[in-house]
Amino acid sequence: MSLPEPRDPSGPYRVCVVCLGNICRSPMAEKILTTDLGRAGLADRVRVDSAGTGNWHVGADMDTRAAATLRKYGYPTGHAARQFSPDWFAERDLVLAMDTDNLADLLRLAPDPETEARVRLFRSFAPDAGPNPEVPDPYYGGDDGFITVLNMIEAAAKGLTGELAVLLGSR
Ligand code: 4NP
Repeated sequence: MSLPEPRDPSGPYRVCVVCLGNICRSPMAEKILTTDLGRAGLADRVRVDSAGTGNWHVGADMDTRAAATLRKYGYPTGHAARQFSPDWFAERDLVLAMDTDNLADLLRLAPDPETEARVRLFRSFAPDAGPNPEVPDPYYGGDDGFITVLNMIEAAAKGLTGELAVLLGSR
């Protein structure tokens, strides 16, 4: 499925990455995707942020295991968790869910079919993700789960950056 067109072609393309708590997966995806886009020369053309569907951790730093994993691989870690608000849809071109629960929650909040078409699974941009392209919740697992998540996110971010380069490069 091709990327949705920007709502405002004169501004940057706006991507929001969404998980449950906004302290593990989506902040990791925000940092990794932002880094990838910068390397691809798209820093000014795409704006990335993140949020959780839940509100438990609003204002909190990233999970210490998520931050340690990012740091180990050279990514930044500054973060303050936020909850996704339905009025953000109007200001995002693409909203990317980490798992199918997040996807269902977002689709329930989406006001119309045009907005629903902008909601996708983040890992669907990884060429090797298979038929169930989720990034599983690492919160209740061990440290190795965070490496698995980082690897999944890196592959998906690379695929998405490539698609964004094609979409925006032709403008
Ligand atoms: P995340 O992980 O959705 O990747 O940020 C979680 C963080 C916190 C909780 C669940 C998942 N929690 O239940 O508090």
